[in-house]
Amino acid sequence: MTIDTGLQDMMHGSIFVLLKRFVESAYNYSTWVRLLEKVGVEHPTYQMQGMYPTDELFAIVHQASEDTGIPAYELMEQYGEFLVPDLLLVYKKYIKPEWRTFEMLLNTEESMHGAVKREDDRTSPPRLLVTKRGNDRLIIDYHSKRRMCGVAVGIIRGIAKHYGEADRVTVTRMSDPYAETVQILVDFKA
Ligand code: HEM
Repeated sequence: MTIDTGLQDMMHGSIFVLLKRFVESAYNYSTWVRLLEKVGVEHPTYQMQGMYPTDELFAIVHQASEDTGIPAYELMEQYGEFLVPDLLLVYKKYIKPEWRTFEMLLNTEESMHGAVKREDDRTSPPRLLVTKRGNDRLIIDYHSKRRMCGVAVGIIRGIAKHYGEADRVTVTRMSDPYAETVQILVDFKA
């Protein structure tokens, strides 16, 4: 997959390091090594501060899907949910202690993805337009040429879980799972 510049699209190392942790946790280390071999990734291990081709992430996830029979979209959601605790740890200094799921989502674009871009201008996190509808609904418009909204849905679920609010938060994807622009509803029960 390429972005408009015609150059190969790259993503921040954290996303790959956490994909490795996800595979190791759901399966084991040798599964990870086998996956890399099968998709032909030859460079040494992923580094937190590196940048790596988005295509490699898709290749690894699709191979894992073929090997396990779990649909790739499902794996992307599981991976999104899994990566939240570590991602929040890495970017802890931008999180206000009083935030819960609602506030975290409302502030992701400005405070979290904003910080990611300011810390490393090679990154290009997805554009998230978060609109508040009263006190119990957020509408998140996801836009990215990478078409990774499964990860977005998973991250939202992971954030709710992180704050112990999984029971009161419902996440509904309104568009095609591989669309570039996807609307996601997040409902909060009182
Ligand atoms: C809460 C703290 C968050 C942090 C620290 C964070 C951090 C990051 C980072 C570092 C990347 C890689 C960007 C790049 O290399 O260009 C990324 C990508 C991504 N983020 Fe976040 N993120 C957060 C919240 C969210 C939320 C709430 C969503 C969904 C609603 C989300 C959806 C995504 C998706 C889907 C990607 C994959 C790339 C793409 O789709 O273009 N993130 N994020």
